Amino acid sequence: MTSYLDQLRLAIETALDRFSTMPVGCPSQLSDAMRYSLLARGKRLRPLLTIVAAELCGGKRDDALPAACAVEMIHAYSLIHDDLPAMDNDDLRRGQPTCHVKFGEANAILAGDALQALAFQTIAANSPSPTIAADCVRILADAAGCAGMVGGQADDMREELGFKPPNAEQWLLEIHRRKTGAIIRAALEMGASVAGANENQRESLKSYGEHFGLAFQITDDLLDCSGNEAEVGKRLRKDSEQNKLSWTVVHGIEKSKSDAAKAVEAAIKSIEQFGNPSDATKRITYEVLVSQAQGLLQRRK
Ligand code: IPE
Ligand code: IPE
Ligand code: MG
Ligand code: MG
Ligand code: MG
Repeated sequence: MTSYLDQLRLAIETALDRFSTMPVGCPSQLSDAMRYSLLARGKRLRPLLTIVAAELCGGKRDDALPAACAVEMIHAYSLIHDDLPAMDNDDLRRGQPTCHVKFGEANAILAGDALQALAFQTIAANSPSPTIAADCVRILADAAGCAGMVGGQADDMREELGFKPPNAEQWLLEIHRRKTGAIIRAALEMGASVAGANENQRESLKSYGEHFGLAFQITDDLLDCSGNEAEVGKRLRKDSEQNKLSWTVVHGIEKSKSDAAKAVEAAIKSIEQFGNPSDATKRITYEVLVSQAQGLLQRRK
């Protein structure tokens, strides 16, 4: 599995570099800011999930790379904007100064905007067919938009303004589902789409993504309390400082750990239909999905 993952990560890095070679007309300060954030040391979790989902459903890696890179571009843009002074006001990301610290606030806002456009351009111009391109654009736009990631981020900011939701548990679950879960779920659904998976396979990968996304944000909230900044590559202990309704604030550390474990278990259960495949690629990709989910419970970055 290690060599499969190493090869996959290399393919992702190479494709990200290639798809972010900017066309004539892109100012150099903008291109530098976009590539600085996109190509920085990220875990590449979302593109990995897109490709693994595609290969699990019998799709080709090269066909999945445009959608995989697109989801990482949307993610990188969301991080640049999340770190802005008007949002979480962070100065460290992926082990380096945040985009606005390095390039100024205006360039960081614009780099985020341009990465979002580049994501959709990458899918539209490089997908294996117009039907797949249209499907992936729809999936990613739904997940990134006002009822997805941006909607979740907007509600996440409301507590800082003193908003007290009547049902904090439900409110927070909905924030986590949208701000983090939606993009992760889209990563898996695009993998299924690229591979021409059937409806049943698509639903099961979406459900895996939904549970994985929740576990991922719960463990991000746990890392904020107990992680190591050098390892994580971003500032920690910020959620309580900024009055965020994190999972640990609402449920406490122990319940956060058990809720993450439950979500991981549900994610793995969602993909049961893919267990025991005959084909070697399908076996390894199924095992990767299981181990990526289990790995969340030992996350250190
Ligand atoms: C950070 O995502 C933002 C959240 C959704 C919690 P990652 O932890 O995947 O960040 P990178 O991509 O590795 O930098
Ligand atoms: C951000 O959540 C999720 C995004 C949509 C970027 P956080 O604000 O918790 O992410 P970190 O902790 O800064 O990475
Ligand atoms: Mg935030
Ligand atoms: Mg943040
Ligand atoms: Mg966080």
